[in-house]
Amino acid sequence: MLNLYIVNGPNLGRLGRRQPEIYGTVAWSEVMDNLRTDFPNCHLEDFQSNHEGALIDYLETLVDREADGVVINPGALTHQSYALRDAVAALTIPVIEVHLSNIYARESFRAHSVIAPMAVGQISGLGIDGYRLALLHLVSRVDSGS
Ligand code: DQA
Repeated sequence: MLNLYIVNGPNLGRLGRRQPEIYGTVAWSEVMDNLRTDFPNCHLEDFQSNHEGALIDYLETLVDREADGVVINPGALTHQSYALRDAVAALTIPVIEVHLSNIYARESFRAHSVIAPMAVGQISGLGIDGYRLALLHLVSRVDSGS
C-alpha cells in the first residue's frame, strides 16, 4: 500500500465553483472520490489550505510519515513562494506539480513556477486529469524503485 499525498494551495478549496470556465465544474470531494476508486491500492490523503505556513507545516509532517510521494498544486504560491519551494526541496520523496489550467497560456506572471525546479515534473492544463496522471506516475516510479 503506497502512501500518496495531494496538497492544494490557496483558492483550490472552491474547485467547481471558482471560475468554472477555467478550473472546471467538478468539486474537490468528487475528484478525491474518483481518485480513491482509481487507486484502490494506495492510501490517498489530501490537504488544502489558503495559508502558506499551513501548507509548509503539512509538508513538514510528511518527513516523519511513511510518505511515498506528493502531488502538489500550489495555486498562486507557485509563482512567488520561495518558502514553499524550500519546503518542497526539503522532501526526499518525489513531488509532482499539477495545474488545472495551462499556466503557460494565461497571464505572463503565471508562466513562471518557483516550485517546478524542485519537482520531478509538472503537469499543466489537463484539468483534473492532471492529478490522476501524476498519481499514476508516482505509483509506477515507486514500483520501479526509482
Ligand atoms: C492554478 C494556476 C495558478 O496560476 C492559480 O493561481 C491557481 C490555480 C491551476 O491549477 O491552474 O490558483 O494552480
